[in-house]
Amino acid sequence: MTDRYAVIGHPIAHSKSPSIHAGFARQTGQDMSYEKILAPLDGFAPTVQAFVAAGGRGMNVTVPFKQEAVRFATRLSERARLAGAVNTLVFDGSDIYGDNTDGIGLVRDLRDNLGRIIAGQRILLLGAGGAARGVIQTLLNEHPRQLAIANRTAGKAQDLASEYAGFTPQAHGCGLADLAGRSFDIVINATSAGLTDSALDLPAGIFAANSLAYEMLYGRETPFMRQARSAGAAVADGLGMLVEQAAEAFLLWRGICPDTAPVLKELRAELQHSGAL
Ligand code: ATR
Repeated sequence: MTDRYAVIGHPIAHSKSPSIHAGFARQTGQDMSYEKILAPLDGFAPTVQAFVAAGGRGMNVTVPFKQEAVRFATRLSERARLAGAVNTLVFDGSDIYGDNTDGIGLVRDLRDNLGRIIAGQRILLLGAGGAARGVIQTLLNEHPRQLAIANRTAGKAQDLASEYAGFTPQAHGCGLADLAGRSFDIVINATSAGLTDSALDLPAGIFAANSLAYEMLYGRETPFMRQARSAGAAVADGLGMLVEQAAEAFLLWRGICPDTAPVLKELRAELQHSGAL
């Protein structure tokens, strides 16, 4: 029987996950289906329960249910527990395992697709919401020289950094204006400012020579990307992270690591064709 998987969110119509997983399944010869499920905002748990009852084997979880999925899981990976967010569920009888593959997705995209090693580098993470939280532990595990977390609301960045006090190097939280006079090798935008086409109030000089500006959003040219380009930084969007986090979920479910390069190439071509990029 074909194994069923799905991505659950609200909204969900825009999700690229079904075409990514269909690509992985074709490539690796897996007999599986992958659908989109729109859950009512107050109906995450019953929607997942119905999917499990119908034989569902696993799910990806997206906005706004990643925190709720932490409570729904009966068992959590260390990275999901620390992120306080689950983006991948694995169902096995009464066991509901929750993991978070966003951080590894980002690190793999930086390393394998963009040729950037985090070890020894000065990293700036912009934002202190769910998207930022999801990647901090994985970034720290790569041993950057520094990890600064900067946010419009400085206190949120400071609180977030303090949650990782036990890690080396120590992450430091600050406001955007506090970045004046500092520069970084990799600047990751994990704020949602691009969704409203808003520019971030970044001091000049934060992009070091040969730096990379990484926008976690995809499918649009954001003001952050324009700011970085005009400061001379190389620029990447979050499409590669999307494909890499999906590959890690696929590995959890099927025990096979797909080749992400052809799937990413196809998705990029689709986006370019649709005029999004
Ligand atoms: P997500 O799950 O996408 O991270 P979130 O938890 O609501 O969403 O967090 C949004 C993040 O984007 C926050 O860090 C927010 O900054 P504040 O904490 O100061 O609100 C940041 N953000 C959103 N719009 C922004 C803007 N126009 N300028 C700067 N930061 C912005």
